[in-house]
Amino acid sequence: MKRETLKHRRRRLRREKLIRNCTRIAVCVIAALGLIALGWNLVAPHLGNRAEQAGTQKQDGPIVEVQAAETEDGSGTAGIAQLAETTTVPYEVPGWQYDNTGWWYALSNSTYYQNGFAVIDDKTYHFDQSGYISTGWTPIGGKGYYFDENGVYDPERNASMMIAMTFDDGPGNYTCDLLDVLKQYGAKATFFLQGVNIEQYGGEAVSRMSAEGHLIGNHSYDHPNMLKLSAEDAAAQFQRTDNLIAQYNNGVGAAVVRFPYGNKSKELEQIAARPCFMWDVDTLDWESKNVQSNIQAVLDGVEPGQIILMHDIYQSTVEACKTIIPELINRGYELVTLETLAAANGVELQNGVTYYGFSAADFAAGNISDAEE
Ligand code: NI
Repeated sequence: MKRETLKHRRRRLRREKLIRNCTRIAVCVIAALGLIALGWNLVAPHLGNRAEQAGTQKQDGPIVEVQAAETEDGSGTAGIAQLAETTTVPYEVPGWQYDNTGWWYALSNSTYYQNGFAVIDDKTYHFDQSGYISTGWTPIGGKGYYFDENGVYDPERNASMMIAMTFDDGPGNYTCDLLDVLKQYGAKATFFLQGVNIEQYGGEAVSRMSAEGHLIGNHSYDHPNMLKLSAEDAAAQFQRTDNLIAQYNNGVGAAVVRFPYGNKSKELEQIAARPCFMWDVDTLDWESKNVQSNIQAVLDGVEPGQIILMHDIYQSTVEACKTIIPELINRGYELVTLETLAAANGVELQNGVTYYGFSAADFAAGNISDAEE
């Protein structure tokens, strides 16, 4: 009997100790959660309350103009439009508003700027047709305008010395070397990738292209003459490569397309369903495999607005770029992606259209794209 009581007592003490420990842990957890919640409440308002505003996108429904924009192409003074009834204005009115799409400006509880320029606090902004501000190079009414990351128009930015270097058929053994050179000089390029080479050489280079601000293009899976493929096989060439690119590009496939050998048709452009690109300067680097002739092919007679074609799968090409890239920059060129080159030259890229180049000669010859062909 006595032994039983002792046993019970020990058990009771052990139970009490366990409860005390559990309580202590619970108090700590609750305190930690409380601190996290307090911190979030302090921080959340500065994040623009993105989550809370999902579903109150202002462009729900058709745009009803209260005051028409000065010009239809958005190159004049902004118009004023009526907000959808379902939209609430979350911040101060009049004032800047933010939703899942971007920044917009409410003039009142029920109106906003759209499709044109507006001066707010002595700064010039541009609002698109839906009323969101533009950032970066933006084509408006056939002209390129530059807006900084806050959407403020910068008339000093000059598009007159831009060039787009494009590299086909990779990734390959030397692509990361080329990415190092581009990074060293703050240059951007466009890479048209083959799916088969992403499989063979791995995605490291593709991840770097994505992270370092280069434009990624689709150059088919294994470089067939696509004019000889069925529509189904042509679509599969792009799809397979897009799936591979997406693995290393935040889940997104290629933004632009270049057909192998430049062999295209209207049907292939429809299947590509993105802006497609040819080139102004064919360096024939794949044929010469010679560093000096590659350098001359680019630097002799280079002109602003040109699209240069090279292949990053050759060591001689990447070697040549170690001279070409700093020399172009030395001559005052800015090396940009095809999207930037087009926008800075006032060209709004369309899906299913092939672009040839954006040099003065291209514009003079009316040879920018096959949109009107
Ligand atoms: Ni190719």
